[in-house]
Amino acid sequence: MKRLGILTGGGDCPGLNPVIRGVVRKAFLEGYEVMGIRNGWKGLVEGDVVPLDLRSVSGILPKGGTILSTSRTNPYKKEGAVQMVKDNFKKFELEALIAVGGEDTLGVAHKLVKEGINVVGVPKTIDNDLSETDYTFGFDTAVNIVMECIDRLHTTAESHNRIMVVEVMGRHAGWIAVHGGIAGGADVILIPEIPIDIEEVCAIIKKRHAQGKNFSIVVVAEGAKFKEDEEVLQAEKLDDFGHVRLGGIGQMLGELIEKKTKFETRVTVLGHIQRGGSPTAFDRVLGTRFGVKAVELVMQKKFGYMVSLKGNKIEAVPIEKAVGTLKTVDKDFYNIAQVFFG
Ligand code: F6P
Repeated sequence: MKRLGILTGGGDCPGLNPVIRGVVRKAFLEGYEVMGIRNGWKGLVEGDVVPLDLRSVSGILPKGGTILSTSRTNPYKKEGAVQMVKDNFKKFELEALIAVGGEDTLGVAHKLVKEGINVVGVPKTIDNDLSETDYTFGFDTAVNIVMECIDRLHTTAESHNRIMVVEVMGRHAGWIAVHGGIAGGADVILIPEIPIDIEEVCAIIKKRHAQGKNFSIVVVAEGAKFKEDEEVLQAEKLDDFGHVRLGGIGQMLGELIEKKTKFETRVTVLGHIQRGGSPTAFDRVLGTRFGVKAVELVMQKKFGYMVSLKGNKIEAVPIEKAVGTLKTVDKDFYNIAQVFFG
């Protein structure tokens, strides 16, 4: 019997389980066995695998996270690990591997393809910063959570005549901030792509209050920075892929706004709330479509390709193109958000 493997790597996100279910259901229809590799690339290094059958994926569609667990392991950072990946690939008699992840996981996938390993990619991240796909699953769920939180912050902000600063995830891209902020009706949205001008932010808030509004909502992406400043870090320690942990810009911004405007200010950091819980219908459908299409790519031997959403079609694009550059917020999109500032 033909056999394929599937792993989920990097930060978890809502929609991973629908992908796993889509892969298993389609694979079984086509006569494949599926091995689930646990904890991302770590599982392929250590040979930590579990067989996945139809029963294993029953009921997982609405579940957040990933039944396979995940890690930010980079086999290219550990001596001998790539060879162990290759050995285990042979040992478990995998015809191909479906790697579900963001730019880091897919970056490893791309390198392995160049070394002769059959890998197909599935793009995943709440940050929506992967090139070559219009959307990644997990993003819609995160944006809906941000929107709901902003709705909630509105009522308490209004009751107390306060400024509410909301720090959201997104790493070096402002997609969650800009979509969540527009959907929640934020009065200012600050993103990594455009340095923060604190005087301008305070001027917008003061003008708004002079016009009779007694509260304001400011959304700030964790990767946003003041002009000529570095990103604000929660921890300097780098992970296997060289990433720092961002966080803290909301607090800095809140203190400055209060000092400069004299309006009482509170800060909320949404953090991992944005990654947890059940995926939205959009993310369940996108994850399912990606999973089914990934098996089709394996059958067509399109190794080195990843599935992608282009318009309303699921297509195949070279992984290399997707991991080359980050997809950041363009000026046109931000201009729309700015119409509602103040
Ligand atoms: O890439 C997804 C993401 O949630 C980013 O938005 C965030 O900066 C990072 O992961 C947080 O990572 P961790 O879960 O390791 O704290």
